[in-house]
Amino acid sequence: MDDDATGPGAQDGGSDRRAFLNRSSTIVMCGGLAAGYGTLGFQVGKFLYPADAGKAVWQFVCTLDRLDVGESLPFTMPSGAQVVVARQSEGDAAESFVALSSICPHLGCQVHWEAVNDRFFCPCHNGAFDANGKATLGPPAKAKQELTRFPLQVQGNLLLIAVPLDSITVTPSEGTA
Ligand code: FES
Repeated sequence: MDDDATGPGAQDGGSDRRAFLNRSSTIVMCGGLAAGYGTLGFQVGKFLYPADAGKAVWQFVCTLDRLDVGESLPFTMPSGAQVVVARQSEGDAAESFVALSSICPHLGCQVHWEAVNDRFFCPCHNGAFDANGKATLGPPAKAKQELTRFPLQVQGNLLLIAVPLDSITVTPSEGTA
């Protein structure tokens, strides 16, 4: 019979199979490298150009008549971060109000607005901040720290605060609780 596996025809078939396997493994290897470098490039791109960096949404705080000059109210961001919103002057422009983080940048204690002293005060180490959040006393002043400030906007009779988008991102584990 002619179907001898060791004949010359079988050798041609064997070298064809080897060539096919070589080409296949080369293609698979190149595909793997391309996928690997593609993933690496994607991750580097996400790091260098985050999609939502600096983006925010506007959220209702209160009506303008809710705050008289010198008054403040606490506001909780969707992330749980505590903010103090205060009216600093007459007028219905956003500049008449200020929204500052109520977390002291020194060691994280809660600051509160002292209308009588026109300042934010941190009782932990007697830190104080002016009405714009700049440290004026205590360890935060020595370190030239400031309270984080959040942009405000007025629409009609409504005071709105800018909420950073990344602070309201829900992770899969939070969403499936
Ligand atoms: S934590 Fe506020 S002054 Fe130290």
